[in-house]
Amino acid sequence: EQAGKGEYDHFMLKEINEQPTALAQALEGRIDPDTGRIALSDFEPGTFEDIESVQFVACGTSYHAALYGSLALNQAGVQSTALLANEYSVSAPPIDDDTLVVAVTQSGETADTLNALRHAADEGASTVTVTNVVGSTAAREADEALFIRAGPEIGVAATKTFSSQAVMLTLLGQRIAADQRGDPSADRSSLLAELAAMPDAIEDMLAVSDAEAIADQYANSQSYFFIGRGLGFSVALEGALKFKEITYEHAEGFASGELKHGPLALVTPDTPVFAVFTGEEDEKTLKNAEEAQTRGAPVIAVCPADHRAVEVADEHLEIPETDSDLAGLLANVQLQLVSYYAADLLDRPIDKPRNLAKSVTVE
Ligand code: G6P
Repeated sequence: EQAGKGEYDHFMLKEINEQPTALAQALEGRIDPDTGRIALSDFEPGTFEDIESVQFVACGTSYHAALYGSLALNQAGVQSTALLANEYSVSAPPIDDDTLVVAVTQSGETADTLNALRHAADEGASTVTVTNVVGSTAAREADEALFIRAGPEIGVAATKTFSSQAVMLTLLGQRIAADQRGDPSADRSSLLAELAAMPDAIEDMLAVSDAEAIADQYANSQSYFFIGRGLGFSVALEGALKFKEITYEHAEGFASGELKHGPLALVTPDTPVFAVFTGEEDEKTLKNAEEAQTRGAPVIAVCPADHRAVEVADEHLEIPETDSDLAGLLANVQLQLVSYYAADLLDRPIDKPRNLAKSVTVE
């Protein structure tokens, strides 16, 4: 097992560092280098022209990737929603043959997600699985499968598969939005260019990350809060999930604007707040972070170097400048590292957290 970790102490750190490669593999051949357009041969232009709404179903970290994809699709003008697969049979919006249901599942074997997929198919929806495992049950059962090509992920806490899923959902979302506009070439070329630059951006960021120092500085805090808005909200949820999974410390993610509607009662100098800035009404998120800071909480801004939040925050985790649809994915990598180093300081069994399994095949 040690051999498989190479130079790293844990698979999780190895897999965090594999993200530039994983994303390059995910994108390989899927953006045309000459035209800068989507070359998603999995789905030819026009595939989704009759789709009226999209429902994403997933669990755990994959649910956060699904939420990311769904929010991005809404912002692109397509009606979409992300649902927890284990809630789907009791809370799904109406489904018909104009509905596309996208199951997001790294393993392709999560029982709750398979159930949701089967329910959707029974109701007449078209189905797509976004997965890492060729030949998995979800890949076989869905009408179509889109493979994220992240390579094997051993650490129970998902890292590179989240990023690869979110990137594939961004591409798929652009194809769906362009099809709905009836203009297959209406994808956002600036976004696609930034997407193609993601592997290098993550590589550069990993080389100079301050995450270890930040984890050290705030070790022994009482609780850890993560806030974000829009796509940044899904990143806040994922940041908190990763943190609790591997550190066993209390962590919660909130929509920035919700902080004042309850969670602020928990904020003290002992509760660091990680604020994710994605370029989606950042001034409001900054105001929300300052509300926590006024109550004594240290604020760690996750944002580009020249962002106004850097002056206000107590600490800064830098992300490269990119499209607002992708900034959250860069922020998420920094938060993965914070969780990793915090768990390492606490001497937790990082790759195999207690009570958790890589894939849950029971309901
Ligand atoms: C388990 C794992 C999580 C994962 C979830 C969904 O709970 O511990 O890390 O996100 O299953 O897994 P899937 O394979 O469907 O993405």
